[in-house]
Amino acid sequence: MTEDLWESHARWWQREFTDGVDPEYNEQILPLVAGLTTGFEKILDIGCGEGQVARALPGNLSHVFGIDRSRAQVAEAVDRSAGEHYAQASASALPFADETFDAAVACLVFEHIIEMSTAISEVARVLKPDGRFVFLLNHPLLQTPGSGWVEEHTSETSIQYWRIGQYLVEQETIEEVELGIRIPFVHRPLSVYLNSLTDRGLFLERMLEPAPPEGFLERNHAYRSARHIPRLLVLVCKKQ
Ligand SMILES: C[S@@+](CC[C@H](N)C(=O)[O-])C[C@H]1O[C@@H](n2cnc3c(N)ncnc32)[C@H](O)[C@@H]1O
Repeated sequence: MTEDLWESHARWWQREFTDGVDPEYNEQILPLVAGLTTGFEKILDIGCGEGQVARALPGNLSHVFGIDRSRAQVAEAVDRSAGEHYAQASASALPFADETFDAAVACLVFEHIIEMSTAISEVARVLKPDGRFVFLLNHPLLQTPGSGWVEEHTSETSIQYWRIGQYLVEQETIEEVELGIRIPFVHRPLSVYLNSLTDRGLFLERMLEPAPPEGFLERNHAYRSARHIPRLLVLVCKKQ
């Protein structure tokens, strides 16, 4: 089900979020990932989509590989390639030998993967010792389904706060992100991700929670009141 929906909506993703049209990618995600992978030579982009993260990686792009489960995403990545290599594959069965890569990146992918722990095992398997995993997620704590900005006004008081949904409940949802576009999401508490990483020898080196960038707030005025609530979580892990 998950894979079918990404296959049918690949064009929507490419149109709405890639090729320079999305400020969160342009102003925040792509520069962050480029900085965090500087100095690593052979890099794997897991769930690469049409390749915008892979293309933004520093160094020699012929050492960059991307995989995605969607045929339509991989076809577009190949068309847009600036030298990187792509293959259609699942994150839970990476088509690479053990200890192939110096670094791996997964950008906004694991919240769509049901077999999360198998996919994390695969990341650990294909990384070389001391390899880096740059793991970007929709912030699992603050963006739990059902979260959002609330304003309550009575004649005496005015209260504003960020509501958090049912954080501890692991759940698969299909969200209609715009009319006719239904995308599957899996919510997991942050501890589930962190314990899964450490159980497989991927230890946290650094955690980033950047504020939403200005370009995003300009387009989403309703989020301005919540500008101190991050949307993105970045975990930088080292394989030991
Ligand atoms: C939100 S898009 C992100 C694409 C890309 N990482 C980027 O940041 O531009 C999520 C991608 O994950 C891919 N995906 C979902 N489940 C996957 C899986 N099990 N294995 C590999 N890719 C998967 C989808 O096909 C889709 O291209």
